[in-house]
Amino acid sequence: MYDFSNKVVLITGGTGALGKSLTQRFISSGATAIATYLRDENIETSKGKNPINAQFTKADVTQEEQVVRLISTIVERFGHIDILVNSVGGYLGGKSVTELKEHEWDLMMTLNLKSAFLISKHVIPVMKSSGLGGKIVHISSKTGLKAEGHDSAYAASKSGLIRLVESISQETKDLSINVNCILPSVIDTEANRRAMPNADLSKWVKTDDITNVVFFLCSQEAKVITGAAIPTYGLS
Ligand SMILES: NC(=O)c1ccc[n+]([C@@H]2O[C@H](COP(=O)([O-])OP(=O)(O)OC[C@H]3O[C@@H](n4cnc5c(N)ncnc54)[C@H](OP(=O)(O)O)[C@@H]3O)[C@@H](O)[C@H]2O)c1
Repeated sequence: MYDFSNKVVLITGGTGALGKSLTQRFISSGATAIATYLRDENIETSKGKNPINAQFTKADVTQEEQVVRLISTIVERFGHIDILVNSVGGYLGGKSVTELKEHEWDLMMTLNLKSAFLISKHVIPVMKSSGLGGKIVHISSKTGLKAEGHDSAYAASKSGLIRLVESISQETKDLSINVNCILPSVIDTEANRRAMPNADLSKWVKTDDITNVVFFLCSQEAKVITGAAIPTYGLS
């Protein structure tokens, strides 16, 4: 449906449950897709079998020097970046704030918030210098709007991400760079199926349906949307 040919797309966390759908669909839509991962060993063994318009790169996006290296490698090879979808993140719940360890708090802030700060910080100058503008989409969460308890660090990090997106969008609106985030609730992933075997799967949103929303935000049709936090939690 969308044609992203000639677009250079960076998908951080592009091998994760949602990231995989994003990466595959961007490749199918003609984009040059650079997907990052951190630990996924399957990627190492599949290298060489990937389509010509796909590149998988190992990078810890919570470390500034690794982000700088990642971006400069992409610019050297492809010249610019048109679209960034940041799908790095993780969940930590089931503990009250009094049970939560300091390192667990730090993990959520680093993985869900610092990563978004660092990747935005280093992609925006590339989009600015190309003069072509750009699209940035971060993945927050419904919990970023309203916490449920026993999720304080996760909720605070995803809430912070919504404000980060708003703030950046104000700074980039004169550069034709749209910055938005989406708010999934539970996504239908293998990890969630394993963690919640008795859940009603009909209430879970499919990765492909979330990818549809991301694609819209990355398209010219969404050029008037910036600073938004778009609910993607279905009708539940
Ligand atoms: N799943 C849900 O139900 C749900 C609900 C609401 C919001 N979200 C959000 O949606 C996004 C994607 O979720 P998901 O379920 O697809 O997650 P996932 O399957 O755990 O994938 C996470 C991805 O991020 C990568 N990654 C992890 N730590 C990293 C780091 N420090 N630097 C670089 N890459 C790193 C992982 O690479 P490796 O696999 O190589 O480690 C993987 O590619 C996250 O922001 C998550 O918080 C998910």
